[in-house]
Amino acid sequence: MEKYQEFLSEILISEESLKRRINELGEQISKDYANSSNLVLICILRGGVMFLTDLMRAIKIPHAIEFMAVESYGSGSRASSGQVRISHDLNTDIHDRDVILVEDIIDSGHTLSSVLELLSSRKPRSLQVCTLLDKFERREIEVFVKYVGFPILNKFVFGYGLDLDDLYRNLPFVGVVDEEKYKLVKSKQNE
Ligand code: IMP
Ligand code: MG
Repeated sequence: MEKYQEFLSEILISEESLKRRINELGEQISKDYANSSNLVLICILRGGVMFLTDLMRAIKIPHAIEFMAVESYGSGSRASSGQVRISHDLNTDIHDRDVILVEDIIDSGHTLSSVLELLSSRKPRSLQVCTLLDKFERREIEVFVKYVGFPILNKFVFGYGLDLDDLYRNLPFVGVVDEEKYKLVKSKQNE
């Protein structure tokens, strides 16, 4: 198996910076929801998992967690097409609850926008978004995001939950892919 060092162009966000910023987000959320009695964090699988598990440890008030999996049509392309299909829905009713949607990254905004529409139709008491990364330049549809870990420029990133062709989610940092080198490594593999 190829090693990520061969196509890592830079470490964009180190393990230490992630930890620091996620603790800040946790503190902020703990303050903002101090009076909530039914907070639930909804994690979008699979990219948001690492972020969720660190964020929930940084949140000092009681809360539940739930998972949801969505697939955007025409995967293969890296920006989503605008249509999503729910492949795993919540196991709980969010009616009248305070909901925070936890995302790894917002790119075009289509995935988020569809999920928000679905969730708000279930009439939660409140609904906000917390994303680790925000590729704000790429937005095609406007979405309000209350909590942002790091705004980033338009580069393809991997690690800390984000995958590169389904691998490398386990890396403890967020790295930038050198797309040329990555293509080379992949083509050698297929020879
Ligand atoms: P959107 O619907 O275009 O906002 O796409 C968001 C989804 O695209 C994220 O949840 C990720 O799964 C994926 N994505 C977008 N940019 C990246 C990236 O740089 N690395 C890994 N996944 C990404
Ligand atoms: Mg995702």
